[in-house]
Amino acid sequence: KEQLFKNIIAHSKEYGFVFPSSEIYDGLGAVYDYGQYGAELKNNIKTYWWKAMVQMNENITGIDSAIFMHPEIWKASGHVDGFNDPMIDNKDSKKRYRADNLLEDRIAKYEKEGKTEKAAQLREQMEGFLKADNLSGLKQLIEEHEIACPVSGTRNWTDVRQFNLMFSTRMGATAGENDVVYLRPETAQGIFVNFLNVQKTGRMKIPFGIAQIGKAFRNEVIARQFIMRMREFEQMEMQFFVRPGTELEWYAHWKEARLKWHLALGPDQARYRYHDHAKLAHYANAAVDIEYEFPFGFKEVEGIHSRTDFDLSQHQEFSGKKMQYFDPELNKNYVPYVIETSIGLDRMFLSVFCNAYTEEQLENDSRVVLKFHPALAPVKATVLPLTRKDGLPDKARAIMDSLKLDFNMQYDEKDSIGKRYRRQDAIGTPFCITVDYESLENDTVTIRHRDSMEQERVPVQQLHDIIGRLVSW
Ligand code: GAP
Repeated sequence: KEQLFKNIIAHSKEYGFVFPSSEIYDGLGAVYDYGQYGAELKNNIKTYWWKAMVQMNENITGIDSAIFMHPEIWKASGHVDGFNDPMIDNKDSKKRYRADNLLEDRIAKYEKEGKTEKAAQLREQMEGFLKADNLSGLKQLIEEHEIACPVSGTRNWTDVRQFNLMFSTRMGATAGENDVVYLRPETAQGIFVNFLNVQKTGRMKIPFGIAQIGKAFRNEVIARQFIMRMREFEQMEMQFFVRPGTELEWYAHWKEARLKWHLALGPDQARYRYHDHAKLAHYANAAVDIEYEFPFGFKEVEGIHSRTDFDLSQHQEFSGKKMQYFDPELNKNYVPYVIETSIGLDRMFLSVFCNAYTEEQLENDSRVVLKFHPALAPVKATVLPLTRKDGLPDKARAIMDSLKLDFNMQYDEKDSIGKRYRRQDAIGTPFCITVDYESLENDTVTIRHRDSMEQERVPVQQLHDIIGRLVSW
């Protein structure tokens, strides 16, 4: 599985999906760029989400709030005081680690060795200390379990300290110490602070939702597992505002709806599962993760949280502005409760990519094929003239031109047809349209289907309808 994940990362780079950022300068930790096919796939995932949330739900509307926000917002939300990772340094190697990661690795080691009880006990102790912000407790566990620095091999550790994950900068030409602004670590706060703007201008009635897709930034200390944990990433979040007392019904609704959304893409159901949170953050009264089975194990892709009235009440207190809704049915004002669905676009990208990546052994050959849902595929169809002569390229170009306004298309006339098919398999193009000599005679082409590799002959006139049907949501 480790090798499989390495192959997936290599393939994503070789075929223009994901590049390390600033690569010619040896990269920048935990920052990545999306290449020509990666950008298309990412856009298609965003569209799939936006359609499912904003277009399909008449009571959900979308916004696009700024990355910079008033710094008080992050005090109200709890991020200035509480958005920390517990860090520890090894004095010999001068390397810094997340204390919980060191312990997680030890738990994994115990599990591998079959010491399940010991693993479970360590996990319980670690989670307890994390929840209680007990830093010396974490240090004690690292010492008790004789955890050594993976680089120096020594156990010469500093104390565990909190490290805030927010990036900060200064705003304005004459900016001083007091003009610190943060790069938002989540998009959700842009929704909370616009709750009344949207409710009033959109004449929204509770229950209703506000959705947004946008960049978020976290100074993650340890970069792990490719685009799983990035310092600059994108979130797709939706806050659903409800009447107090109805939140658990809506929580159940969104929990089910969100898993269905993942499964509608057609992947193997066993690769997704719920992970209900036993221990809840102080503001939440229910929380669940939707996890996907990556080659390195089940990991969170999306979180659904019942956040009570915590955020709006905090903003009411810190801003001094009322964050209330007048409910005409109850004839009273209240601060709404909130169900949040929060998914990392990059993690979703990685789950879609891992799910699609297939190494196939054929009769006399092998291929790597990305079996994306056709609606997500970066390129929908490629037009391939069988040869570069006898007018086949002209005919192929004309077909390409008739389709490219509605579908992201490619044209390829270089190399043998077999090689060209393989290139399209490797980027996940669901359909290859081949123009051959018969095409000149009777205005038909063949369509080759990516997964089955089967071909059918169809009239050129029907191509637009056929492709439209096959790549629809
Ligand atoms: N507003 C709630 C919130 O931000 P979160 O669990 O911290 O909750 C939500 O983040 C989602 O954002 C996660 O499920 C994950 O998919 C994604 N995410 C969080 N940190 C990330 C990172 N460093 N890199 C990539 N995705 C990340």
